[in-house]
Amino acid sequence: MGHPSTLSFRGTVVHGDKRGRELGFPTANISIADHAALPIDGVYACWVTFPPATEQHGATISIGDNPTFDDVTDRRVEAFIHDFDGDLYDAEVEFTVHAWLRGMFRYESLVELIEKTAADVAASRIALALPPQLP
Ligand SMILES: Cc1cc2nc3c(=O)[nH]c(=O)nc-3n(C[C@H](O)[C@H](O)[C@H](O)COP(=O)(O)O)c2cc1C
Repeated sequence: MGHPSTLSFRGTVVHGDKRGRELGFPTANISIADHAALPIDGVYACWVTFPPATEQHGATISIGDNPTFDDVTDRRVEAFIHDFDGDLYDAEVEFTVHAWLRGMFRYESLVELIEKTAADVAASRIALALPPQLP
């Protein structure tokens, strides 16, 4: 069996540590039912829908244990949904991975993490305007 043509997974929006807002990137923390469906840790450009709605939103997501923060020990999925400003708590979300951007890193300062995240979102918007590049 070859590669699946798409890589998708579902989850539910839960409350995170609320650091994202302070960092300037409010992220939706996603509780994933089936962790086996996740790709490897890293940062990805994704398309997101809120079933049963079918409208697609662009997003930049991070999968990993946020190594910049020693107090995070579990594997998390966090989504910065582009141009979106709504209350998503308890919403069901479906992600389709469009492109791999990079691995997870431990940054020495919050400024570095914020700068890198801004660059990720810019790269993600470009990737989403191009054909899919699956990992
Ligand atoms: C696009 C993007 C890239 C990220 N990259 C990293 C990373 O390389 N290293 C890291 O420790 N955390 C990374 N994060 C996770 C942030 O640490 C996390 O979103 C932030 O701490 C807010 O978490 P909270 O919503 O649980 O408060 C990334 C988050 C996003 C949205």
